[in-house]
Amino acid sequence: MKILVTGGAGYIGSHTCVELLNENHEVVVLDNLSNSSEESLTRVKKITGKSLEFYKADLLNKKQVDAVFLEHKIDAVIHFAGLKAVGESVSIPLKYFHNNITGTLNLLCAMNEANVKNIIFSSSATVYGDPLSLPIKEDFPLSATNPYGRTKLMIEEILQDLYRSDKNWNIALLRYFNPVGAHKSGEIGEDPFGIPNNLVPYISKVAVGFLPRLNVFGNDYNTPDGTGVRDFIHVVDLALGHIRTLPKLFTNPGIVIYNLGTGTGFSVLEMIKGFETASGKKIPYKIADRRPGDIAACWADPAKAKDELGWEAKKTLDDMCKDTWNWQNKNPNGYR
Ligand code: NAD
Ligand code: UD1
Repeated sequence: MKILVTGGAGYIGSHTCVELLNENHEVVVLDNLSNSSEESLTRVKKITGKSLEFYKADLLNKKQVDAVFLEHKIDAVIHFAGLKAVGESVSIPLKYFHNNITGTLNLLCAMNEANVKNIIFSSSATVYGDPLSLPIKEDFPLSATNPYGRTKLMIEEILQDLYRSDKNWNIALLRYFNPVGAHKSGEIGEDPFGIPNNLVPYISKVAVGFLPRLNVFGNDYNTPDGTGVRDFIHVVDLALGHIRTLPKLFTNPGIVIYNLGTGTGFSVLEMIKGFETASGKKIPYKIADRRPGDIAACWADPAKAKDELGWEAKKTLDDMCKDTWNWQNKNPNGYR
């Protein structure tokens, strides 16, 4: 099949391109490189020994999006492109709404016009807000606590409305838990600009000596060791979740929703320990105040994806830490 991957030069997108090419799909990437580098795609080709087509294009420019559909007969779209920093979305909400919502509307209009009606959308566990109980199932109540999360919820609703209006659409909403890790080759991985916001990229910058210590945001949560607990999932498992979802789209399922998580939570202190073991480096840390907006604990019930897609996460905490470290150590400055 020929798959259009928006945001394909980014962290999850590049890992998904590798798995798509490994499965002999044809891959067309559209990315404006606002949070990525074309080097990631060069590395994707190196890992797989296969080629892909790249359009440096912006979803905000409808003509550029249309051009891709005019030039290719696309079977399905995997839509990763979007801005994703929670803190930044609070300071510049209009940029987030414009990029994520308008960008998605342009994509959906272009798809509609080209009669391409199969799409996988990158949603997030953030749409569950602060869950009442754990593990989280797909039918739990939804809420958003920041503009980034609201864009995810709004796009989910836009897609629901689209399907209600036209039953020819096949739409998968994949709600990711906390993606970490890197391809085992160490050629591609997460490459945040500036100081990372998320835990594992921050720990790896400490391990490589670019940052002096980690701040642990709170140790007084109602969790076994008092620090936050999350469902960290290896990015290659996550990428494979998309590969397993693709055939589902072609069974005319309408709208389907899946959690992509492991079903197991690890605390911040467990992640530090795991990373120390994997890297052989000491990770200095200090306990700091809670980060506003954080929840105590969050992990998925991934049973629905296992039952309906035959997908489950296979990689361990050790794989996540080792592969992150291998990428960071081989590429201390990321793709630059
Ligand atoms: P990323 O920033 O590495 O990748 C996103 C890509 O989209 C980047 O390459 C960026 O240049 C591109 N992009 C952004 N706006 C664009 C536009 N207007 N036109 C064209 N390209 C554009 O992020 P990621 O971690 O790979 O995340 C991929 C998707 O998964 C995002 O939608 C994100 O919100 C979602 N998600 C990520 C996480 C996570 O922890 N990484 C968790 C849940 C959901
Ligand atoms: C964050 C976002 C979420 C987004 C996800 C993936 C917030 C409030 N939530 O999730 O919307 O979908 O990233 O991009 O930003 N921690 C530290 N020190 C650090 C960084 C993090 O102790 O320097 C802790 C946090 O308090 C949390 C855990 O590590 O308990 C995980 O944090 P993080 O990696 O930022 O992910 P989330 O907060 O789950």
